Amino acid sequence: MKITIIGLGYVGCVSAACLANAGHQIVGVDISPVKTDLINKGQSPIVEKDIDELVSRSVENGSLRATTDLSDALSESDVSLICVGTPSLANGSLDLKFIRNSVTEIAHALKNRSEYHVVTIRSTMLPGTLENVVLPLLEKESGKKVGEDFGLCVNPEFLREGTAIADYRNPPFTIIGSFDDQSAEPLKTIYQDLDSPLIQVKIREAEMIKYSCNIFHALKVGFANEIGVLCKEMDIDSHKVMDIFKQDKELNISPTYLTPGFAFGGSCLPKDLRAIRHRAKTLDVDIPILDAVLPSNQNQIERAYRMVEQAESKKVGLLGLSFKAGTDDLRESPIVQLAEKLLGKGYEISIYDSNVILANLLGANKQFIQQVIPHLAKLMSTDLNSVLECSDVLVISQKTEEFRQLQSSNQTHKIIDLVRISENTTQSDNTYQGICW
Ligand SMILES: NC(=O)c1ccc[n+]([C@@H]2O[C@H](COP(=O)([O-])OP(=O)(O)OC[C@H]3O[C@@H](n4cnc5c(N)ncnc54)[C@H](O)[C@@H]3O)[C@@H](O)[C@H]2O)c1
Repeated sequence: MKITIIGLGYVGCVSAACLANAGHQIVGVDISPVKTDLINKGQSPIVEKDIDELVSRSVENGSLRATTDLSDALSESDVSLICVGTPSLANGSLDLKFIRNSVTEIAHALKNRSEYHVVTIRSTMLPGTLENVVLPLLEKESGKKVGEDFGLCVNPEFLREGTAIADYRNPPFTIIGSFDDQSAEPLKTIYQDLDSPLIQVKIREAEMIKYSCNIFHALKVGFANEIGVLCKEMDIDSHKVMDIFKQDKELNISPTYLTPGFAFGGSCLPKDLRAIRHRAKTLDVDIPILDAVLPSNQNQIERAYRMVEQAESKKVGLLGLSFKAGTDDLRESPIVQLAEKLLGKGYEISIYDSNVILANLLGANKQFIQQVIPHLAKLMSTDLNSVLECSDVLVISQKTEEFRQLQSSNQTHKIIDLVRISENTTQSDNTYQGICW
């Protein structure tokens, strides 16, 4: 394919060199003549393993050239990949001036073009930027219409400097957020040789996936460092601890605990966080990330409470009381906290949790139920229908088939879903509210 790459920094230069070597015809564009001259001489403007050879080989065989003239470059291409910088402004917000400038230039070049062209942003941009900034600017400045005259995609890059070429060739996935299917087609061709999954998503999803990845990486570094300083102060080898930690691919390095939903609870996580925070205090070690976890968890309980408030009825049925489905353990259950807050605010609540009822009947957790939460035990019912009858609002906190069926056929109640009870229900409306969707 004939591809224009705008911005020849780390992302643009690596993309240009790799795509040229994969047999595409690449014209690189940068406002810096130093960078374009270097490329035209067969030299890489960035330092990166293996890139010099790729650049010199592709310039030599004519598959890569560079220019400062964007309209010249665009006149011979089907797709443009924008890889300009998106730095921070002093207040932390995203500086979009390079995006705006390059998009305006592309729009002016599109004005005089009759062929369809796909504009693709590889730069990292906050969700909504493509639809609210890039698209209107392109249409206004070109006088052309997206979906008819040009296509539009966001295609974030996941390479790391230092291993950029290897990462480019083996990305975890290729994400394409496209205005329509036609826009995505040329990108699918460009990336068809890569061995990783190609995932087509909505534009905002693509923008957010990139942020979620980078923020998680940052969080992981901070987490490992806080564990590290704690270990050092306690004379423990942090590398040994984390090396073994990383061997757990079930719970640690795994999809577990990474699904948006309700607060955690139970007999271990809150207690162990408290103990480690206390130990850090006595050791005089700052652990701001670990310190933030319990308040963040508490916020999620508050959020659920506010959702109930907004449902505008005092009659609330809680479907699930233990801290997760499949257990009768009520210790530090966030739903118990929510129930207590609702009771304190004068709500009429009724509760259904088949496991807790069973535990009460069998005596398994009877002592806890009768001694610690007798005020809630009184509100429990063994009959789901009777809970439905005396409630206008239902709060689902456990992912069970019984509750999924109830939600899918519901016409009578306002539902507050803390667990995404059905994967098909992804959006909130008047009768259904998801806590994070
Ligand atoms: N560097 C990374 O490891 C990496 C990885 C993934 C994603 N990203 C994202 O990709 C984007 C680019 O990052 P980078 O590190 O390659 O940036 P960079 O600063 O190294 O390169 C950007 C280039 O764009 C050029 N440029 C600016 N305005 C231009 C214009 N109007 N026309 C043509 N060229 C123009 C600059 O001269 C510069 O050479 C950023 O949004 C970044 O967040 C970076």
